[in-house]
Amino acid sequence: MGETIPTSGKKQIILNAFVMNTPGHLAPGLWKHPRNKTDQYKTLSFWTDLAQLLDKAGFHAMFIADTLGAYDVYKGPSNVVPTLASGAQFPVNDPLYLVPAMSAVTRNLIFGVTASVTYEKPYALARRLSTVDHLSQGRVAWNIVTSYLDSAARNHGLSEQIPHDERYAIADEYLEVLYKLWEGSFRDDAVLANRHLGTYIASDGVREINHKGKYFDVPGPHFCEPSPQRTPFLFQAGVSEAGGQFGGKHGEAIFVGGQTPEGTRLTVDNIRNIAKQQGRDPNHIKIIVGINVIVAATDEEAKAKREEYLEYADDEGALALFGGWTGVDLSSHADDEDFRFSHSPRVQSIVRRWSATVPGTDSLPWTKRRIVEYISVGGLQAKVVGSPTTVADELERWVEISGVDGFNLAHIVNPGTFEDIIEFLLPELRQRGLFREEIEKEGATAREVFIGSNRLPEDHPGSKYKWRAGENIPQYQTKEN
Ligand SMILES: Cc1cc2nc3c(=O)[nH]c(=O)nc-3n(C[C@H](O)[C@H](O)[C@H](O)COP(=O)(O)O)c2cc1C
Repeated sequence: MGETIPTSGKKQIILNAFVMNTPGHLAPGLWKHPRNKTDQYKTLSFWTDLAQLLDKAGFHAMFIADTLGAYDVYKGPSNVVPTLASGAQFPVNDPLYLVPAMSAVTRNLIFGVTASVTYEKPYALARRLSTVDHLSQGRVAWNIVTSYLDSAARNHGLSEQIPHDERYAIADEYLEVLYKLWEGSFRDDAVLANRHLGTYIASDGVREINHKGKYFDVPGPHFCEPSPQRTPFLFQAGVSEAGGQFGGKHGEAIFVGGQTPEGTRLTVDNIRNIAKQQGRDPNHIKIIVGINVIVAATDEEAKAKREEYLEYADDEGALALFGGWTGVDLSSHADDEDFRFSHSPRVQSIVRRWSATVPGTDSLPWTKRRIVEYISVGGLQAKVVGSPTTVADELERWVEISGVDGFNLAHIVNPGTFEDIIEFLLPELRQRGLFREEIEKEGATAREVFIGSNRLPEDHPGSKYKWRAGENIPQYQTKEN
């Protein structure tokens, strides 16, 4: 299991569908497109239909993004109005509740759910994730985020965000607490459920964790019995120095952005090097790049589809998303300003990367209009538009040059984008031996699907907290023990 090498010798790719529990994830305004039904995001059938579609087609996972506050920087501060018409990541429902229903109607699809370590307490989150790992029979992954919106901080009792790197220091201790709860609080053979003996759990099978650290004080024990994976499979997507260090230590599938395969190669090498420094086998980490695919029978039809989508784009929503991601409010800037020369280093670097990669735009001014167009069909992610051959060639080039293990595919319309990928792209990828023909093991857990093992691998830092069957370990006393 894990990385399957087909007879052609090519590495098979992982494909995730990237979604959010909201009308306008990465395509602001497109909710009103005739094909789109994301305004039905509040209904279970919207989600169970999508899950069944992806499961049947052989997708590896559905990755559900989440934020804990609105995109209120544009025309702000604290202004949600620009997001309202387009549903640009507003409103956003909680993703975790979708998973039990979707797992009940699917067999193999994995559900990656985002939850923030900055605003949720570890004891409570450990319980919620264990519950869903039980109910999905191990098909849940957790996308660990430290969150990046001031609006989330303000609504969770803080006047401003905790400084960026400190959020990762907190996250590191948070994970230690969770490993102690998930891996070390119940012995592997603690649960007997023996009717004859009248013993549900062995009296010596559960212990407190007594964690006392800089940020958390959690005595334990964990409130849930061991779930199939114990620690749910760990997704992460940090790009900064602190985020990369955290991901290289804890992450099992790392999500990266990137406009070119060459640039992404540097990120991939960096993550694998950090993992190595942490004593991990770098191949135990899957690296997945976000990309937006518009595919149709021919290049011309795919380009026409993109143009048609753009007719539904919402400028205000796109600029609101841009403001949330960058912290920069473009409302006071002139319509003809060329943001390749922006005074904001963040805006300048993003726009210059786009300008270097979108064919034919490197010598053109990158105005607000062009930014809106870029964001409206897939957010910040790289874009590929074309026939099955064009798109498959491009994905193959990405894998070869960047060394990524797969793609996180955003949608423009839903239903629509994933159906097109299934109809046009998957047959081409399968014909090239790049995408799995069949499921290697029915009902595998998330970790088995991604890296071929059910429990944390022994080289993962969480493994040192495992309480194995038959082992007699004294109570954890303090953080240092
Ligand atoms: C594919 C992908 C998905 C992400 N999903 C979320 C998300 O759902 N919620 C969130 O708060 N951040 C999300 N992020 C942001 C990352 O968690 C992280 O904050 C960002 O990449 C910046 O890295 P840094 O934290 O190291 O500065 C995502 C990033 C990527 C690349």
